[in-house]
Amino acid sequence: MNLLTQLRSLFEPALTALASDKAKVPDYLGAIKPSSNADHGDYQANMAMAMANRAAGQKPPDVAKAIIAALPANDTLEPPTVAGPGFINLRLKSEFLAKAVQGIATNPKLGVEHAKKPRTFVIDLSGPNVAKPLHVGHLRSTIIGDALVRILRFLGHTVVGDNHLGDWGTQFGILLHGYKNFRDDAAFAADPVRELARLYIHIRNLAKVADGEDEEGATDNPVMQACREETSRLHAGDAENVTLWQMFMPACLEMLRPIYERLDVRIDSTLGESFYNPMLPGIVKDMLAKQIAFESKGAVVIPNAKGIVPQTEEEQGKEDPPAIIRKRDGAFTYTTTDLATVKHRAETWKPDAMLYVVGAPQALHFKTIFAQARRWGYDSVEFQHVQFGSMLGADRKMFATRKGGVIELMSLLDDAVCLSLQKYEANTAERHAVGHKVWEASTEEKNEIAEVVGVGAVKYADLSQNRTTDYIFDIDKMTNTIGNTAAYMQYAYARCRSIFREGEIDEARFRTNPPSVVISHAAERALALQLLRFPEAVEAAAADYVPHIITAYLWDLAKATSVFYDTKECHVLKAATPELKDSRLLLVDLVGRVIKQALDLLGIKTVERM
Ligand code: ARG
Repeated sequence: MNLLTQLRSLFEPALTALASDKAKVPDYLGAIKPSSNADHGDYQANMAMAMANRAAGQKPPDVAKAIIAALPANDTLEPPTVAGPGFINLRLKSEFLAKAVQGIATNPKLGVEHAKKPRTFVIDLSGPNVAKPLHVGHLRSTIIGDALVRILRFLGHTVVGDNHLGDWGTQFGILLHGYKNFRDDAAFAADPVRELARLYIHIRNLAKVADGEDEEGATDNPVMQACREETSRLHAGDAENVTLWQMFMPACLEMLRPIYERLDVRIDSTLGESFYNPMLPGIVKDMLAKQIAFESKGAVVIPNAKGIVPQTEEEQGKEDPPAIIRKRDGAFTYTTTDLATVKHRAETWKPDAMLYVVGAPQALHFKTIFAQARRWGYDSVEFQHVQFGSMLGADRKMFATRKGGVIELMSLLDDAVCLSLQKYEANTAERHAVGHKVWEASTEEKNEIAEVVGVGAVKYADLSQNRTTDYIFDIDKMTNTIGNTAAYMQYAYARCRSIFREGEIDEARFRTNPPSVVISHAAERALALQLLRFPEAVEAAAADYVPHIITAYLWDLAKATSVFYDTKECHVLKAATPELKDSRLLLVDLVGRVIKQALDLLGIKTVERM
């Protein structure tokens, strides 16, 4: 049950009856929003200003009154009031909130309903270039992509997370050159992952590729030149190089596995660039035959609608971009591979939408792909570049670590986990010092908590940003136990659980046969309202592919919860009557369940006790 949708359906007949232009009713309905100031009610309906025909002398406050008068009789709202230039303030009845909140207790999805029209999504996520250390950009793509998979799936959509691995690129030239000239056979036999990583770093050092620099930038370096020749031989189908590539791949995939495991990211499909490679000549042929693409000076290009033909990849225009799909030297491009990918995905999964969770610098590339794919016939698919900004270091420059502009992701997670452990211990000591009963966790338990909190911190910090903006990677801030952080939410969850433990209460009955909710105080009312707003948050996050709506929701829920706990009149275990105690326990149980579920949608774990 989505409160906002419910209010909109209450208003719809009234607005349809009163609007002079019926086509505008959806816009008017869109003007019903949660109110930013609780003094103005729970929601506001701000369509009267737009609906008033001023030429005919209509005044918005009068229109607002007419709308109110036209609302059907209902048990949902207190009588609405008109404020300011014609705002309608809406306050939900406490009895309605009490009943509704009791109603979600038996619902495993806590009030979130399946989409009316379930769709099929393919989500392009992670996309690391194997044989290289994972870059922070790929970390963001993995975290945001995984959250979108979880959110859309929770709403009943069919979702395929597809990892478009960069497994055919120039980095293999480095491995091939390294393996042929510098390998340690015994080391490779014992641990190919480690040996390949060593060779990769060795060649980069040998070529003096500066920290932070991409090896592709080092054009006139002789070592890099040799590597590039190896790549060309691989792409030309050289038997030795192809065999070596096949031998390297399992080790390359093995390097990624522990990272996905630690991040708890399960990807449904992994089809790298190499998978599409054999299809590329066919793609070019088909586009030529359909007269979408043309030969131009030895290259194969797709002109844009204005007939502009690019001669180099750099020349691809900004608007309605044309594209090169086969270069003069016969090589196919990133564009060709992505067009083959569109075709394959469309044929395999028949998706309604393809989302690409890739950094903002590739915006032009995706604009090109989408424009060409539509021309090619895939015009009923919703294509979206779900782009994200860069992660910046404390110096506001692109985030980089000691070695090579690509971060060692594992060590970054280790740092977050280590700091989380320190903060956990400090927090426990502090609570102990002020006389709180604190739980003495074993070393093993502490380590488990630190892992869940530390990895959660990195994810939460990423997901709580509006994804399109750059953000500063601040490991100290993200591991804080107070504020809009993973740890704060995980503590809030554990606190709910600890109330049940302390009261020796079995939560089962609150989920199967929930007691009535009694709203005796504003803090309870506010909490019930927040709990009921969970579906709104999930649906809004899914609608625009923006997970941060869920963290913003969690933050509001956590604040309402903390006011409730701090209100003397709202004692839970020591409530004045058994009815109040039961009612409050139900609220507490629901807070815990909603937090756990919301964090799960973000791919973040919880622990029962902290
Ligand atoms: N491997 C690419 C890179 O690191 C990202 C792949 C994105 N997905 C795609 N279908 N092009 O830049």
